[in-house]
Amino acid sequence: MAERGTMPPSATRDSGGAFGAVFGDRLGTRWLGATNRVISQVGSTNDELARMAAAGAPHGTVLVADAQTAGRGRMGREWVSVAGQNIYLSLLLRPTWPPAAASLCSLAAAVGVAEGVRSVVGWSPRVKWPNDILSGQRKLAGILAEMSADRDRIRHIVIGVGINVNQIHFEEPLAHTATSLRIECRRSLNRDDVLTALLRGLEHWLDLLLMDRRGEVLEGWRSLADWLGSRVTVRTPQGALVGVAVEVDDDGALHVRDESGRDHRVLSGDVSLRFLGE
Ligand code: BTN
Repeated sequence: MAERGTMPPSATRDSGGAFGAVFGDRLGTRWLGATNRVISQVGSTNDELARMAAAGAPHGTVLVADAQTAGRGRMGREWVSVAGQNIYLSLLLRPTWPPAAASLCSLAAAVGVAEGVRSVVGWSPRVKWPNDILSGQRKLAGILAEMSADRDRIRHIVIGVGINVNQIHFEEPLAHTATSLRIECRRSLNRDDVLTALLRGLEHWLDLLLMDRRGEVLEGWRSLADWLGSRVTVRTPQGALVGVAVEVDDDGALHVRDESGRDHRVLSGDVSLRFLGE
């Protein structure tokens, strides 16, 4: 991994200097973003970084875009990615764990994003399983972690983060479910300040995972999930499930107890927080 302090020759920019000029000594990360690329527009930063990974990009590479034309969310959804207002970033991990150990990546990233936000605005968003970042009931940021692996070896993991920073108008169907830092703070924010804080938060929490300190990651995530213990509806590929969200286990799976007292272990799905009126 790269040491702090030197701007590597692989740092590239094409965004005209307006956004993303955070890399280098002052960023304050040790390895995250030591190799980096800032671009004005791309289809999806996750797709582009996966291409860079296939071409040999190193662990910790960060790709930031000002806009995406084909931004992707979880479960095949679109991630609306307007120019000039928000942050769309992807980062590359090349861990040595077996594929099964990667399940906490997006939880660690969610805590890192929440911590980054807190350090800029002074309050912490909450996390919603598996990896949404909320302010109140509304979605502030989302995470899309994608792994390329053989049966017993991870080739790489790309973690994509989209965070609404200064956007104030959201089209349907997001008009009643999305928010931004600007809406929540009632002031516009400097995207480079937010990007810097996110990268520091992400490095800290991903480092814990890379050092196999999974317990601390789970503890950090659970401390931001104040809805655990409440009634939820979970939409899974197998159908909807209503019950009490009992816990998130050591592999990051959500346990829901239905009305008959049966425990369901959910690996993938969308949670509606009924106690918030969603
Ligand atoms: C979700 O909440 O559904 C996940 C959204 C992830 C969006 C980010 S934006 C940067 C990166 N590139 C993408 O195409 N998606 C992720």
